[in-house]
Amino acid sequence: MDLKGRSIVSIRDFPKEDIQAVVNKALEVKTGKWAGVLEGKVLATLFFEPSTRTRLSFEGAMVSMGGRVIGFADPDISSAKKGESLADTIRTVTGYCDVIVMRHNIEGAARLASQVADVPVINAGDGANQHPTQTFLDLVTIQEEFGQLQGLKVGMLGDLKYGRTVHSLCRALSLFNSKFSFISPPSLRMPDYTLERLKATGTSFVEVGDINELKDSLDVLYVTRIQKERFADFQEYERVAGAYRIGRDSLEQLGEKVRVMHPLPRVDEIVEDLDDTPNAIYFRQAHNGIPTRQALLGLVTGTIQ
Ligand code: NCD
Repeated sequence: MDLKGRSIVSIRDFPKEDIQAVVNKALEVKTGKWAGVLEGKVLATLFFEPSTRTRLSFEGAMVSMGGRVIGFADPDISSAKKGESLADTIRTVTGYCDVIVMRHNIEGAARLASQVADVPVINAGDGANQHPTQTFLDLVTIQEEFGQLQGLKVGMLGDLKYGRTVHSLCRALSLFNSKFSFISPPSLRMPDYTLERLKATGTSFVEVGDINELKDSLDVLYVTRIQKERFADFQEYERVAGAYRIGRDSLEQLGEKVRVMHPLPRVDEIVEDLDDTPNAIYFRQAHNGIPTRQALLGLVTGTIQ
């Protein structure tokens, strides 16, 4: 795997071996092996959409390895507000930094940015499409829990239509022979293009409306927030808001050993009574954002091999 100079736009661009190699590299970074390698490097963070974990963990990753950060967290204070095109913003910022991390509401924005930038662009979420670095940190967390990624029974629950995290994660885990259970309201099912690909690759999946319909226990339940901001029709959002609440009382149905994950932020889909059970690993998952993003920043800048 040689990621030096490469953009990270979609998990679809990564073969299985490279995904595994990035996960292993993040675990290696966690041991402290590559401390300080980003010294002298500058990261630009361009966030056209709200973020807590993704932006702060990229910034934390850069700073803790000796690098520096410039950027904006609110597009209203950038020249996008004056009508500047995304391409022109990227053409400019590319001259100020060694790597760009960008979140945008439009699907495909990261691809476009990667085509006009002279430095690597890392997609921190483009609309409902992809969130590849979240997937890498999810996989790092799964590998820590299970020792490997192969053949797990994985449930994905909530907004499977608009949730970019599950689109990326499903693609990655399908390469590792996961058996999927998709749990969503009928209006928020996994997109057809995803289901078609799972069928074409012989990947096992079921679709249900509720965890009570699951016939088997799970290794992982990946819970997602209903993506309120992506609904064209607010009444449609209100019909599905609050559809799921996973708490201690869900464990019997899910299997006592299930690991519950969530990209966060949660709204009301995970009850706080789950937080101090050994099943809840979502905060540990969020913390893996630092070593995972350190590894990715090091790999694309060529300071980690
Ligand atoms: C997710 C996102 O932005 O897609 N958040 C994150 O990066 N951890 C999930 C969400 O907003 O629901």
